Amino acid sequence: THVVAEPCFNCKYTDCVVVCPVECFYEGESMLYIHPDECIDCEACIPECPVEAIFHEDNLPEEWNEFTQLNADMSPQCPVITEQKAPMGGDDAACEQK
Ligand code: F3S
Repeated sequence: THVVAEPCFNCKYTDCVVVCPVECFYEGESMLYIHPDECIDCEACIPECPVEAIFHEDNLPEEWNEFTQLNADMSPQCPVITEQKAPMGGDDAACEQK
């Protein structure tokens, strides 16, 4: 499965959701999560994320290990998101600083 990691936090560009063929992105307050039972590992979302927040779980940087469990825990509790929206903060500033 693929995992949304720390760069998405307080950012939520949402470019990723548009290309997902199985609609497996779920929207939390501060970031998005991928449902591990729904992701088919197509990798379409990886190049779409401007802040490189999405990784295959095997390629996840060690410092973000906890995000695998976080995606699994949070995705079933959050609403699905399939349409792009403005990033957090109303402009790209918060995301670009990362
Ligand atoms: Fe987050 Fe990147 Fe998607 S910032 S919402 S994983 S495009």
